[in-house]
Amino acid sequence: MARGKFITLEGGEGAGKSTQAKKLAAYLKGQGIKTVLTREVGGTETAEAIRKLWLSQDEGCWDKLAELFLIFAARREHLTKVIWPALERGTWVVCDRFMDSTRAYQAKAGPIEELYRMTAGKFAPDLTLLLDTPEDISMERVRARGGWQDRYDLKEAKFHRALRKTYRALAKKYPRRIKIVDARNDADHVAGDVQAIVGKLFRLKT
Ligand SMILES: Nc1ncnc2c1ncn2[C@@H]1O[C@H](COP(=O)(O)OP(=O)(O)OP(=O)(O)O)[C@@H](O)[C@H]1O
Ligand SMILES: [Mg+2]
Repeated sequence: MARGKFITLEGGEGAGKSTQAKKLAAYLKGQGIKTVLTREVGGTETAEAIRKLWLSQDEGCWDKLAELFLIFAARREHLTKVIWPALERGTWVVCDRFMDSTRAYQAKAGPIEELYRMTAGKFAPDLTLLLDTPEDISMERVRARGGWQDRYDLKEAKFHRALRKTYRALAKKYPRRIKIVDARNDADHVAGDVQAIVGKLFRLKT
């Protein structure tokens, strides 16, 4: 049995990661591929509990390093209990945010690459889709979605602009793994672009 593929979705607030993760998982299932849809921070009962604890404090309340330990503790649980076993079974994993989010949001908080190596070794996604949107669209979508907003959603345009720049720099640094997707279009159009990238890279039938 061939190992499954690990695909992550990244991008700023309201870029459409969760929307596209769902659509991609449905597309893969439609191709007859066993697929798990999951997310970070979270993805297991324990990691979801850590997520809740993490987001229960306002930004700046956590000691930066303690915050990193929480994120990596959740990631280790997620990898060992869900992601790695699924890939071993030949199941594909679609993950809404992963290590690039840590790079984009927590790079200054501590030794994130060292912590990643301790947590995951040389493991990396087979493909990362970076949903790229200008900050006004992100903020508009977050507003339109309404309901509960986490602390990052509430930040101003400057924050979203910087985040986008960081993500685009990551795509430059890892050009083989990270593919930029123009996420300004409507969700079905974006899903078509995502499917084209995934289909071509992994040689799927249409
Ligand atoms: N391509 C799109 N065009 C217009 N609206 C969209 C598009 N994709 C998603 N949306 C809508 O924008 C909102 C945000 O989308 P979604 O929750 O998928 O983004 P996200 O990147 O997961 O956000 P977050 O970072 O907050 O988790 C939702 O209301 C969703 O229905
Ligand atoms: Mg989301």
